[in-house]
Amino acid sequence: MQPPIHFEELDSTITYLKNNRADLPHGTAVYADRQTAGRGRFNRKWVSQEGGLYLSILLKPKDTRFLANLTQLMAVSVCHALEELGADPKIKWPNDVQVNAQKICGILSEAVTEKGRLEAVVVGAGVNVAQEGLDKIDQPATSLKELGINTTKERVLDLVLEFFWRDYPALSASGFKTIRPDFLKRFAALGKEVTVKNGEKTIFGTAEDVSPNGTLILRTASGPEEIYIGDLIV
Ligand code: BTN
Repeated sequence: MQPPIHFEELDSTITYLKNNRADLPHGTAVYADRQTAGRGRFNRKWVSQEGGLYLSILLKPKDTRFLANLTQLMAVSVCHALEELGADPKIKWPNDVQVNAQKICGILSEAVTEKGRLEAVVVGAGVNVAQEGLDKIDQPATSLKELGINTTKERVLDLVLEFFWRDYPALSASGFKTIRPDFLKRFAALGKEVTVKNGEKTIFGTAEDVSPNGTLILRTASGPEEIYIGDLIV
């Protein structure tokens, strides 16, 4: 893959790749020092001040069966990268990465379709590298620096891309099951009582498993439920 493209500032690295998808090849990675309109899941704002890594990768997959698992591949890749740097990350299903129950990375994918045909998918990750004062964010958050790990966002970027491309061929050919052991090993809520929120809907249960498709298997009072999307509260 070609080296990542660097910008000092973008509105959002996801938006940049979506807007320029026609001129850029599969596998293009971009990162920015700041984002002025970084966004997260469920239309939330992603605070993107200097010090963080704001990475997105443009993918043009021919096989569309495993699109939903690309965010999970990114979560596992970020975990491998953070472990290499000495942290002990856990995954909060479906794809947040936490250390000591504090968020260190958020991941968002967006697809672009034209006349019902998939043109591209962009997988974006925001990793907290050298920011401080993350306690002002609406949920508990930390950075590598706050954990005492001094590194650069370029080092984190190189590691994330290395692991992402190592595991991408298997995932895109055979799906989530290829990364499931790595995901489950780091799935903090496994066996715990959790609440899953999706809009107005709230479900309680025990996080029993993550299926070979990457969905959450929740044991509820009325039996097992397969959850495709939501926010997990442990
Ligand atoms: C979340 O946890 O809600 C997902 C956050 C995703 C943030 C990243 S930063 C790089 C890319 N560009 C964006 O605008 N969002 C993603």
